[in-house]
Order: sequence, then structure tokens, then C-alpha cells
Amino acid sequence: MKKRYISLCILSLCAVAFTGAVKGQDKNVFTVRTNEVKATIQPTMWGIFFEDINLGADGGLYAELVKNRSFEFDNALMGWKEQKKEGAVGSLVVNNLAVFDKANRRYIHLESKTEAGYGLSNEGFRGMGIKKDNGYDFSVWARRPAGSKVTLKVELVGSQGAVIGEATVVPEGHDWKKYAVSFKASVTDPKAHLNVWLNGMGAVDLDMISLFPQDTWKQRPGGLRADMVQLLADMKPGFLRFPGGCIVEGRNIDERFQWKKTIGKVEDRDLLINRWNVEFKHRLTPDYYQSFGLGFFEYFQLCEDIGAAPLPILNCGMACQFNTGEVVPLDQLDPFVDDALDLIEFANGPVNSEWGKKRAEMGHPAPFNMKMLGVGNENWGPLYIERLKVFTKAIKAKYPEIEIVNSSGTDPNGDRFDYLNRELRAMNADIIDEHYYRAPKWFLDNAKRYDSYNRKGPKIFAGEYAAQSVNIASPDNKNNWQCALAEAAFMTGLERNADVVVMASYAPLFAHAEGWQWTPDLIWVDNLRSYGTANYQVQKLFSVNKGSVVVPMLFGNEAAAGQKGLYGSASLDKRTNELILKVVNTLGKAQDADFIIEGAKGSRGTLTELSSNKLDQVNSFEEPLAIAPEQKAVQVKGNKLDISLKPYSVNVIRIKVSG
Ligand code: AHR
Repeated sequence: MKKRYISLCILSLCAVAFTGAVKGQDKNVFTVRTNEVKATIQPTMWGIFFEDINLGADGGLYAELVKNRSFEFDNALMGWKEQKKEGAVGSLVVNNLAVFDKANRRYIHLESKTEAGYGLSNEGFRGMGIKKDNGYDFSVWARRPAGSKVTLKVELVGSQGAVIGEATVVPEGHDWKKYAVSFKASVTDPKAHLNVWLNGMGAVDLDMISLFPQDTWKQRPGGLRADMVQLLADMKPGFLRFPGGCIVEGRNIDERFQWKKTIGKVEDRDLLINRWNVEFKHRLTPDYYQSFGLGFFEYFQLCEDIGAAPLPILNCGMACQFNTGEVVPLDQLDPFVDDALDLIEFANGPVNSEWGKKRAEMGHPAPFNMKMLGVGNENWGPLYIERLKVFTKAIKAKYPEIEIVNSSGTDPNGDRFDYLNRELRAMNADIIDEHYYRAPKWFLDNAKRYDSYNRKGPKIFAGEYAAQSVNIASPDNKNNWQCALAEAAFMTGLERNADVVVMASYAPLFAHAEGWQWTPDLIWVDNLRSYGTANYQVQKLFSVNKGSVVVPMLFGNEAAAGQKGLYGSASLDKRTNELILKVVNTLGKAQDADFIIEGAKGSRGTLTELSSNKLDQVNSFEEPLAIAPEQKAVQVKGNKLDISLKPYSVNVIRIKVSG
């Protein structure tokens, strides 16, 4: 009888260990082994993917309020309207300097033939977002032909037609000169516009007509929207990848992103049509161009500001294979490779080097300390590998310390992926960039994706991912809680495999509510407001609770990766001596979770929860924090912590530990 009782006990213990649950009480037991370090979590682990899509830069992060400020759009007057007060007579002509090796060749010639009032108005990017009492910096390049006496009256006009800010500019002579004047706005208005009137009779030439708010990030003149940068800074991102995305590739080689054209004085930067301009027939954005006011210097500066390692991605001599798929012949690849080498010098080189000097002239003599460089975005096939090899050889010869990020194509599986994965591993590539835009279920099913990856092979950058509520690139995709929850579950698998996965970023980053092409996106903005989606809250929660080393969190004998809908990972923060537990409950019912902490002692801690009972819940301009973290205290008793996980919840527990 006694023997039978003992074997029954052993049997039931085994059952507990296997399922992780105590029958009857429906307990879920997680064992955390704090003295078994599995991996070091790289400081870069959770980062940001930036692309100028959805009015991400112009009309978004780049705070310029005037659209088509230098008349370089294909349609030179796009965004502008001629203005005539009653009885006014005037004319305008767009001139082209016809100096073909020069950027910004066009300017506008205006002539007022009466005193009544003749001029131009600019509509901004879906209007101009103006804030009461904020200062605005207007500037313009102007020249006045001999004999002309016109001055300029600058007016900011609210959506109800009232003037809400004004200033005067007096052009002085017939040489081009930049004029600047500042004024305050009297009213908040998301849909204002700008008028530039000619006072008096005569002619004037104008170019680079610009209006910036003064409350930019770090109050930098001509800078970035502070609320948008703040959302990024709040994530404490490990890296910032820029400038994309497909924008790097361009629809054709001529329209690729060329970093050298994005530095130096803004008035000398070459404008380029944005490749997302007409990419999606259902979301045409014909007024989408890149002014490059946000250029490579500003990207590096942004990285420095928010403490993110810079990760620029460059064109590899191939245009987007979803568009023309043009390639540059191998024997003509040198200028492209030079762009890569010169970029490293621009970022890191001494001030007396050719490109380091340009950085210093722009105000940053100290190096930007760039350590990684991407070659190609979503390129695929043998044509990519051939070109990549040329880049790799040249970069490694001159800068062996730079780690190269390599494309694994558009999808996380299939022929394209298998081919590139094989080739890149054979090349002993540094870092492979994997992309997954998939259904939420894919993320749940793939939480173990990296458990079986070769630990000695290339490192992985989960460079672009987002759960798609409908389908990839569907305009009906939503940033709902179901997607964010699935991403969180998957991210526990990334963290658990931090010895292989060294970086991860959600994509795309920004979307303007009235100017987007692609959804879902991490952060939504309009002309005045911005909010982080549920997905943003997940990204931020993981990033600010990164930890420094991974330790095992076992459910039974296995990693917690979907058993009973639970996903989890554990890490130690060596700076603060804290144990960090992340647990995602993907079921629509509360579940108990008991943590047995082995190898360390803890007492009090905090639990931060993200949850919603509704899988279709979203954050919005009206309810920006519908899904937001809530914090409570938790108590460790002995070496046990028992908590209840809310239905559909992402939970992060931080416990001070010793021993
Ligand atoms: O994030 C949007 C696009 O998705 C990126 O530009 C591209 O890399 C991917 O296909």
C-alpha cells in the first residue's frame, strides 16, 4: 500500500512538472533559475525602425510647415495658390536656373501691378498645426530687382479665416539673401495656412519659403517635432535604423536614397520624389516628396539625442524588386561602394578627413560612433549576393570593425529566404535582417523560432515586424490589442534567444492620420497630436525592462512558449540587481502564475501590466492611453511569487534580488 502511494505521488509530481500546472487549483508554475546565465542581452536589443513613409519625415517628424518650399516638386506650384485681393493685378513665373549640377534650381518670380494685394498661400501638409503663444520662425531667400519697392507681409491664417500671426520682411537688394523673422501665434489651430503678400508694386524673386515652430526637439531651429521625438526617447531605444525600408532602394536606381545629397546646407539638398507617393493605388499621395531637411546628419544627431546606436542602411546597387528591379552592373558598382566607405568616414572619421570635415562643418566634430551598416534593404536573389560580396570585401578591408547588416529578403520563410539564409551563412555574415509581417497567429506559433538557430552562426536582426490584423499592406489593418499581444508573446522568444537575436524593431514607425500609405504603424500623429499604439506600449515595456542577461524561465521542463496560452522570459538587470520576469497571457481568462525563484532571494517588487478584455481595443487620438501600463506592488514570500495574470495581458515583474 505504502509503495503504491509513493509511486502515485511520483506520478502526480511528474504530471505537474510536465504541464506546469497543479490540477484542481489550475496553478501555472514557472521556475526561474537566476544562477544559470543563458545569454547576454545586447544594449541594442530593442530599437526603432524609421522610414519616410506615411509622412514620417516631411509632414511629420521634420517640423517644416511649408510644403514644396522651394518649388521643386514635379508640379512646381503644388501646395501653393496665387492670391489676389479685390482689384489686384499680378503675375507669377516659376524660373529654373538651368544649372544642371545644382540642387534647388527653381525659384518663383512674383510681380504685383497694383497696390491692392497680390501674393501666394501655402496649404502646408494637410494644413499647418499651429499652437497658441508658440513662436514661429519664418525665413525666405529673396532678391528684389532694381527699382522694385515691394516688401513682404507674412500672415498665418487660421481655419476660420482670421489672421493668427504676422510679420514683415523687407528684401534689400538684387542679390539672393536669406531673410528671417519670428512671430507668435495667437490661436491654436490644426489647419492653418500661410500667406505671403507683396506690399506695394513691383517684383520679387523668392525661394525656400519656410516656417518652423520654435518648440522643436531641443529647440533646434529648423528641427524636429518635439512630441514625436519624445515618444521615441521614452522607448529608450537601443538603436535607430534609418532611412528605411524600401525608400533606400527606390523605385528605380535614379530615385534611390543617396545620403550624400542629404547633408550640408538645407537649401543645397536635392529634393526627391518619395517612392510611397504613388506606390499604393488605394492610398495615392501625390504631394509626397523628400526635402531631406531631415538628412543623414540629423539622423545621426537624433540617435545621439535619444541614446540609440545608429544603423544606417544603404542602397546596394539594386532598385526595389517589387518595382523596376533595376541593378547596377558589377563593374559600375564603385560609386555605390564608395558611398558606404564615405559614410563610415562621415560618421566616424577625423575632422581632417574629407567626410569627417563635412560632419565637423555641420557642427559635430566628435564622431558619431557608428558600429553597424546595412547593405540593401529587402533585396533578394543571386544578384543581391553578388553585389553584397563586393560591398563586404571593401568595407571589411578598410573598416573591419564595422558590422554589416544583410538582407534575408521580404519574408521569414520560402525560397527567397532559404536561398539567402544559406548564402549568408556560407559567407559568415555578421548580422542577418529578417522581416515578418504576418497574422497574429504566426507570432504565437513562432515564439520558438530562434530556439533552434545555430548559436555559432550570424546574429539576427528582427528588422521589421508587425502583426497584421487583416493582411500585409491592407488599409484595414488595425493597431489592435490582439496584434500587440501576439507581438509581445513572440518578443519573449526573441529575448530568450538573445545570444542569437541582437536587435529587433517594429515597422513602420510613424503614420500621419491624413497622409498614410501603410498600416499598422507604431505611432500615429496628426498636425498637433501624437500617440503610441498598443504595439508601442508593448515595445516600450520590453525596451525599458531589458535586463542584461537571460536566465531560464521554465514551465515544467520547457521554455514558456505557448503552453496554456502563456509565454515568458526572464532576465537579470545587473546594474540594478533586479530579476525581470515577462509573462504574456494570451487567453481571455485570468490565470494564476506561481514563480519559484531559484538561486536568489527577493522580497518586494513591482508588476507592470498592459491588458484589455477586448482584442479589438486600440489607442486613438481620443483615447491615447486606452491601453497603457498599470503598476502595482508584489510580494515575494520565501522564494515564491504568486500573482494573477489578467486575461489578455502582458506582464513585467521587477524584483530586487540578492544572492
Ligand atoms: O515597413 C514598410 C515596408 O515594408 C518597408 O519599406 C519594407 O522594407 C517592407 O516591405
